[in-house]
Amino acid sequence: MIYTDKVMENFNNPQNMGVVENANAAYTVGSPECGDIMEMTMRIENDVIEDIKFRTFGCAAAIASSSMATQMLKGKSVADALKMTNDDVIKALGGLPAQKIHCSVLAEEAIKGAIENYKKG
Ligand code: FES
Repeated sequence: MIYTDKVMENFNNPQNMGVVENANAAYTVGSPECGDIMEMTMRIENDVIEDIKFRTFGCAAAIASSSMATQMLKGKSVADALKMTNDDVIKALGGLPAQKIHCSVLAEEAIKGAIENYKKG
């Protein structure tokens, strides 16, 4: 199993790690495959994701996926975020090994869950 340079870059130097202050959207998801956990927090203003951060207790692929996903979504609309799939994250990372695909699914689920919570108010 070999990680791409993009994966290693995001794993060794993850972006947007932590918790957004004054977040109005949050969701934590656990992976049934491995038991790892990912939390996303966001501040959404006028349907734009002004800030987004993650905390991941998981593998390198999960950390790289969350780092990449948050970079892709900062400043984007909620509608764009809902359209983003784990495949988009994998492409941006230059690929993930087959047995690590589920790690990127965590990022998609955490993002969609946070937005759903936001919409529920
Ligand atoms: Fe658990 Fe990657 S192995 S998220």
